[in-house]
This record gives sequence, structure tokens and C-alpha cells, in this order.
Amino acid sequence: MELVPLASAEEIASLVADIVELAVTRDPGTVLGLATGSTPLPTYQELIRRHRAGSGPSWDGVTTFNLDEYVGLPPGHEQSYLATIRRELTDDLGIEPARVHGPDAAEAGLPTAGERYEAAIEAAGGVDLQILGIGTNGHLAFNEQGSSLGSPTRIKTLTAQTRLDNARFFGSPDEVPRHVLTQGIGTILRARHLVLIATGAGKAEAVAAAVEGPVSASCPASMLQLHPHATVLVDEAAASRLERLSYYAEVYAAKPGWQAH
Ligand code: GLP
Repeated sequence: MELVPLASAEEIASLVADIVELAVTRDPGTVLGLATGSTPLPTYQELIRRHRAGSGPSWDGVTTFNLDEYVGLPPGHEQSYLATIRRELTDDLGIEPARVHGPDAAEAGLPTAGERYEAAIEAAGGVDLQILGIGTNGHLAFNEQGSSLGSPTRIKTLTAQTRLDNARFFGSPDEVPRHVLTQGIGTILRARHLVLIATGAGKAEAVAAAVEGPVSASCPASMLQLHPHATVLVDEAAASRLERLSYYAEVYAAKPGWQAH
């Protein structure tokens, strides 16, 4: 795992935008895994800014898969994660809606939605680069504490804490759906490169548990320790509980120029 301690969310956004653009430049058919939530927004805004300025790669051949989706929202609801990712990123990059995927939360198909999503990811060749955030309790996508480290895409029940954390996007905590479809930990582990972004003091404890704690279903994000190519980018506040912070900073400062992220 590479731990990259940076000064601010803006620096992280710029570096993650570089990582994403490099992947798309090298392979115009890149399959991107996308996270919602507030954390990746500065990165998405930076990618859009560069695209508008004409300095970015072509996005025409890129396919995307969201990590998760709420169950029980009316069709077309503006807080559905598919609507969110189109509004916050893919529409502005000109990626056709047909290439932008999320788990299908339509009620009639729920029993097979997980299997169908797994098949769609596989048919696209798997996720090349997966952007991740982290929940304040260490959840990854919507894999709450106790999620199997081998889990596939399936339905999950949100904790009261996660519903409270996400209430700012809705009128009240009661309006946050109780159920979701989420890529499993096993699904996420199959992506070729994982890039987790954490900013703000509210994430410091979860980051320390994920990076320096034991690999455990009690901290789903600790599964990153099992992945052969994981990059974790933290700002100063999110890094504040890391015991080996000075070592990570030393490693990053001494990183050989030829070594990519
Ligand atoms: C939700 C999402 C996660 C996200 C997390 C943190 O639970 N399903 O993918 O990482 O929130 O969100 P934020 O980035 O807004 O803190």
C-alpha cells in the first residue's frame, strides 16, 4: 500500500486527476470505478476543469461503474448515485450515459441485481482504476462493519451512523433509504488499482484503523491491506491519527521519479 500524505484536499484532487488521466491516456478504453459522497468532488471538478480547458484526454471510450446505489428512491431521484455521478462528473466529461453504470435498484429485479452487476463489470473487462472514499466508521462503498471480506455485489442495510452522515443530501435522516445495493469487498478487491481519498479530521480514526489496524471485517476499509496495488491519499487532518506518518512522508519524498502511482 502506498500512503501519500498531502497538505490539502486541493493537492489530492490534482494528484488523483493526474492518476486518472494517465490511466485514460494509456488506455482510452479504461474502466473506471467511481465513488460518490463529498470526498471525490474536488477531483471530479478538477477533471472537468481540465477537460473544458482542452488539456485532458479523450473520454469517449471510457466506461464507468459506480460502487453503490440506494434502494427505494423513486426513479430519477436526484440523490440516486447514478443521477449524482452523471451530474457531478460523467455528463461534463461527455461520457455517454450508456457507458455509465450503477447497480440496478428497481424493485422488481432486486433479487438478481447483484449478480447482474457483477456480470456487467466482468463483461467490461473488470475495473482498472477504482476511486474510493471511506465512511467515518471505516465502511467502504456501502459495506458496513461486519461485511464479509469476500462479499460480491448485494443488498445491505445501512447503519444509523451512515444514514446520519448522508442525511445532509436529503431533507432529514428519515429520508435516507435504509437499504442499498453495493459492490462487495470481494468485488472491490478485483479492481486493478485502488485509490482511496480521505480528507478532514472526521476520517482520521477510520484511516488509522484501515491502514495500521488489523485486517478485519470490523473495519471494511482494512481490506486495502490485502490488495497488491492500493494508493491512499490523505490531507493533514485525515492523517492526524497515523502512527507511522513521518515514515510515509519520508517514503513519498524519496519516491523514485520512475515509479508511478
Ligand atoms: C457513502 C458512500 C461511500 C463514501 C462514504 C463517505 O457511504 N457510499 O462510497 O465513501 O459515503 O462519504 P463522504 O465522502 O461524503 O464522506
